[in-house]
Amino acid sequence: MSAGDTRRTEAPFGRRLATVDAAREVGSYRVMRLSDRGGPIPRPGQFYMLSAHDGWAGGSDGRPFLPRALSYMRHRPETDELEFLLEVVGPGTARLAELRAGERVWLTGPLGVGFEAPADEITPVLVGGGIGIVPLVAWHQQLRLNDRDPALLLGFRDASHAAAARLLGEAEMTITTDDGSLGDQGIVTAALARALAQQGRAAVYACGPPAMLDAVRGICARQGLDAQLALEAPMACGFGACFGCVVSTVAGYRRVCLDGPVFDAAVIADGALA
Ligand SMILES: Cc1cc2nc3c(=O)[nH]c(=O)nc-3n(C[C@H](O)[C@H](O)[C@H](O)COP(=O)(O)OP(=O)(O)OC[C@H]3O[C@@H](n4cnc5c(N)ncnc54)[C@H](O)[C@@H]3O)c2cc1C
Ligand code: FES
Repeated sequence: MSAGDTRRTEAPFGRRLATVDAAREVGSYRVMRLSDRGGPIPRPGQFYMLSAHDGWAGGSDGRPFLPRALSYMRHRPETDELEFLLEVVGPGTARLAELRAGERVWLTGPLGVGFEAPADEITPVLVGGGIGIVPLVAWHQQLRLNDRDPALLLGFRDASHAAAARLLGEAEMTITTDDGSLGDQGIVTAALARALAQQGRAAVYACGPPAMLDAVRGICARQGLDAQLALEAPMACGFGACFGCVVSTVAGYRRVCLDGPVFDAAVIADGALA
């Protein structure tokens, strides 16, 4: 992918300091808004590496040591602000979730390649699972700005996690929860299969847990539909230096941080998402 590609905004060299403007709970998640003055405009699907300016690498075992990868959820060009959605799973996300307005964050990015829009006659169908909704919020907004009318399907564990669907405002969407506490009970890939049966020509955009992405890949392959998957992998550097984030593709190993995180589903090797 070249520097002029519409799916990649190149990051400025080195890390920079951003300031937390606001942070709040949304159900089981936390939204953090950062001021990234003068930062470039990211493309939906790209991500940033973040670490707290103070109190990083401060845990009992020295963790978190490395920065953590987060997709951006929204970019506000009028104020140079970036919004992130956090799910606390370990020391890095826990420290980021503690940050309050006025505290500072080291930021590198935007990194990786984002989504590519389908041809005009093809309906974009966006499918998110849990924290995987984050890049799809940005993508949904961009598609709407470009007068596209994407279908939206979001799956969550329960109503507390599904509260994050509010971040999409009044957008029409299908919500599923595993326990049926909000929306339809069941998994979002079942809702996807039903939606595609009623859809004309569609291209699918998905982010979520590996098993969900594998199911999306299978559904789209069987129906001959294009799909773009935003993958996650443990990342040490975020910009191609450590090879710690590779995924197996039909063309060999590829770095999720540099060649992805968005990949065409058709290039992912069988079993790579298991
Ligand atoms: C491109 C990209 C975008 C992401 N976007 C978001 C986001 O918008 N919001 C958000 O909350 N999280 C996001 N993540 C996941 C986030 O980076 C990890 O949850 C975080 O690095 C975990 O760090 P920790 O110190 O909190 O927990 P750790 O103790 O490091 O990890 C806790 C558990 O999560 C697993 N894990 C760690 N890193 C990853 C990873 N990168 N992918 C999958 N599993 C991992 C570990 O194996 C372990 O089981 C993204 C990851 C990638 C690669
Ligand atoms: S995280 Fe270092 S090469 Fe991808």
